[in-house]
Amino acid sequence: MSRKRVAVLISGRGSNMAALIEATKSVDHPAEIVFVVSNVPGAGGLATAVAAGIAVASVDHRRFGKDRAAFERALQAILVEHRIELVCLAGFMRLLTPWFVEQWPQRMLNIHPALLPAFKGLDTHRRALEAGVKRHGATVHFVVPEMDAGPIVVQGAVPVRADDTEAILAARVLTVEHCIYPQALRLVAEGRVTVADGRCLVDGQQVREAALLAPVDRP
Ligand code: GRF
Repeated sequence: MSRKRVAVLISGRGSNMAALIEATKSVDHPAEIVFVVSNVPGAGGLATAVAAGIAVASVDHRRFGKDRAAFERALQAILVEHRIELVCLAGFMRLLTPWFVEQWPQRMLNIHPALLPAFKGLDTHRRALEAGVKRHGATVHFVVPEMDAGPIVVQGAVPVRADDTEAILAARVLTVEHCIYPQALRLVAEGRVTVADGRCLVDGQQVREAALLAPVDRP
């Protein structure tokens, strides 16, 4: 089976993008990152992608003013041009309209730095600390028009410790993000993920070890 052609959409440093590139280097991975697109021309992740020999492009949303549809048409056009089959949002800081989302049904993934459906939106680590949760983590989900609401593919959990700061917790979650995103992409690219009643099944099953990364607690 040929490897799925994947585009990663970024806005910033692109550490998740780098993890996806690293994990898909090997030819026996069912996906390959062939294209990286940023809506921010100077995004740090672009240089990382170039260094890895991957085609990059910037589609600067500011060029389109308030015309979100025109921005998305431009984005869609270059994805089609690069014969992209799967899209991974990785720190892509633009809300997408239903039109764009509907171009990629169950073919667009996002990573969110919280255990959804808890802490949708921004500042997840600060809000997790404020809420006093004992477990936090990250979620890879299919993108649907509603923000941070699509079917959950993989989650990874970490403990929250008494002396955690936002930065410490963010770093712990990021480590897990870098594991679960390549894992989720593998499952999806292998065609093992289906959606029934808004929930992901892996190999036709509701709960699968492959879809959960649980923490090892240390004192
Ligand atoms: C990550 O925390 C991701 O979960 C969120 O944005 C951040 C992007 O970080 N969506 P990076 O650019 O991948 O380093």
